[in-house]
Amino acid sequence: EVATVHARQVLDSRGNPTVEVEVELGSGARGRAIVPSGASTGSHEALELRDGGSAYGGKGVTQAVAHVNGELAAAVRGLEASHQELIDQTLCDADGTPGKTRLGANAILGVSLAVARAAAAERDLPLYRYLGGVGAHVLPVPLMNVLNGGVHADNALDCQEFMIVPLGAASFGEALRWGAEVYQALRGVLRARGLATTVGDEGGFAPALQATEEACAVLVAAIEAAGLRPHRDVALALDPATSELFEDGAYHFKGEGRRLDADGLCAYWSELVRHFPIVSIEDGMAEEDWDGWAQLTAQLGDRVQLVGDDVFVTNPERLAEGIRRRVANALLVKVNQIGSLSETLQTMALATRQGYACVVSHRSGETEDTTIADLAVATGCGQIKAGAPARTDRVAKYNQLLRIEEELGDAARFAGPAAFRLGQW
Ligand code: PGA
Ligand code: ZN
Repeated sequence: EVATVHARQVLDSRGNPTVEVEVELGSGARGRAIVPSGASTGSHEALELRDGGSAYGGKGVTQAVAHVNGELAAAVRGLEASHQELIDQTLCDADGTPGKTRLGANAILGVSLAVARAAAAERDLPLYRYLGGVGAHVLPVPLMNVLNGGVHADNALDCQEFMIVPLGAASFGEALRWGAEVYQALRGVLRARGLATTVGDEGGFAPALQATEEACAVLVAAIEAAGLRPHRDVALALDPATSELFEDGAYHFKGEGRRLDADGLCAYWSELVRHFPIVSIEDGMAEEDWDGWAQLTAQLGDRVQLVGDDVFVTNPERLAEGIRRRVANALLVKVNQIGSLSETLQTMALATRQGYACVVSHRSGETEDTTIADLAVATGCGQIKAGAPARTDRVAKYNQLLRIEEELGDAARFAGPAAFRLGQW
């Protein structure tokens, strides 16, 4: 059972404070977890509790840390660590609000994940096997964000993320190699065009490009320069994060000087998908634009994976609403949007039951914590979004997947194109 719970404030990849939690069980087994943090957050996410005031520009998390060391530690002390649902329910009850606004989702999630790690350690199991059982053997296709824009970079790209998707590889290890090779080729392509190769929050390059089409064309050139086939070997995925562009009922593409309504945006994505090997578009409509979302899904849903991030915020009720309205065909999974492991798994189970694909995701503010790598294998969801194949906060997840693939040996299977559920490839 849970013996001690201790939290401290540490830093994330952007240099902002976040919560780290350590749990020790009666048996002596220990678990540790660090909570990530978003920048283009959905407005319906559970609350990330920040101190305000002057230290760390108001971004301190000492109150959340105090809540872990006080109320939350007291609530779970003595509980059986392997009863994850009971642990998480107890944490949620201690908070008592639907959005985890009193104690903070960052406090609650830290305890939730650290308890899971301790319970796995007690059984001497890797986390993916503890959570996923002996059948967990599917390695996810990585969606690697190699060009950063939007609020993740200082350039004029409206679209936040341009990802390469090495879905044609035979193994995760090969997919990662292809991703890294395209990333290095991309550096060369950008240099040759006189563009900067400095990087954004998720390790992708942040060149002074403006148009979405231009960025996609640069990626196709990089895939070819790496000696790979666009589409068949390495496809593209976009996260335009359009909630950030939506204002007064319209979508404002400032870098491109375009203003579109939902109709226009649907036509725009259709056109883009015709010209580039795009297999997935995330948040192609804004979080409150349910009608636009339904229209986009009706128009493109049989050809492209349409991922709901801000619109669903890993929340089972938001997802259920989306299912009712026939919105999207895939769920983006961010543990800190909902704030506990059990609720995350519950939302993923709902998605899976309804035929939605799941993409386990990092946040733009990350750490050395690799929980999402294990979560992707445990659930066998087939896709992970963890940034560029560069920068330690990003490659920590990919490296963990290499370890898992090696450990599984012959039993390991790479999810491949089938993960995108778009029929024949
Ligand atoms: P965030 O962005 O982590 O900054 O919220 C990631 C995303 O929109 O997918
Ligand atoms: Zn997103």
